[in-house]
Amino acid sequence: MSIPKPVYNPPFNITRASHSVLTVSDLAASRNFYVDLLGFIVSDEDRDTLYLRGVAEACHHSLVLKRGSGEPQAERVGMRVFSEEDLEKAKAFFDKAGLPAKWVEVAHQGRTLHATDASGAPIEFCATMEVKPRLLVTFAQHRGAVPQRLDHFQLLVPDVQKACEFWMSMGFRLSEYISPDGTEDLLFVFLQRKGNPHDIVFAPGDGPRLHHAAFAIPESYHFFQVCDLAAEMGFAANIEFGPGRHGPGHALFVYMRDPDGHRIELFNTHYQVMDIENEPVRWDASHVMQRRWQLPARRQWFVEASRFAGVEPRAPARKGDPISLEKFIAAGMR
Ligand SMILES: [Fe+2]
Repeated sequence: MSIPKPVYNPPFNITRASHSVLTVSDLAASRNFYVDLLGFIVSDEDRDTLYLRGVAEACHHSLVLKRGSGEPQAERVGMRVFSEEDLEKAKAFFDKAGLPAKWVEVAHQGRTLHATDASGAPIEFCATMEVKPRLLVTFAQHRGAVPQRLDHFQLLVPDVQKACEFWMSMGFRLSEYISPDGTEDLLFVFLQRKGNPHDIVFAPGDGPRLHHAAFAIPESYHFFQVCDLAAEMGFAANIEFGPGRHGPGHALFVYMRDPDGHRIELFNTHYQVMDIENEPVRWDASHVMQRRWQLPARRQWFVEASRFAGVEPRAPARKGDPISLEKFIAAGMR
């Protein structure tokens, strides 16, 4: 195993993680969680769809919730490209790679390319969206955790090395990675285009599945505000992990499960990583654990994730052995 070489002049220009599309069973319950509790701004809604954005976002949506029947699923994760020309180049890239890619019409977005990545995850690219007011200093509309903007996605995949190679071939740069102690295996990879630690993260597990979408929040205070509010509104059990401090990326975080089980991360404090001499930061898996001050995540955090619609997850060749809260307690909390 080895770290793929960065591609500084990529085949097309992806600028950032943009949005995700999730199916939910009860839009009113979702609205209560995302809008009344977390503080998302509603850009548009109809009988079957809720379009949400953060207060710092001027584009139409970073989270789309669709009424669905059956198991709640992730339909897609979306990336922005810089221009229409980049969309054409993206189509050519996927065609050349022999991967599915087709033009579709999507409400509130410019021309959109649906594609499938090397792991089988459904993704989409667009260059434009309808514009909405940026509410960053419209304080009267700030609620809950005051989500500012989508920052990144984390996907579980059966082959992290393969996912890393594919996304780096599209110009993503490896900012940090976790390897089992004493190996160069890529266990967790943190990949970025926008100049902070990650736009997309790949972790080992049955997949492809969407582990979480992460939204930046303004201050440490908002972690406690939203947890207090969650308890008051009957969502205490939806707080899954944290508040705590990440090793890679250094952010403070809290993970919550929405009423359908989709996982959302709220986090703050990222750093810049964009210069030519920024080499990937390596973490031994044991070092990540030593650096934490919060208790480990429950086992469910490591293994549960949202299935992608129509995609049957595949198991990794080698099952991981993460230190879950359950294991930590069984071992005498050492
Ligand atoms: Fe995250």
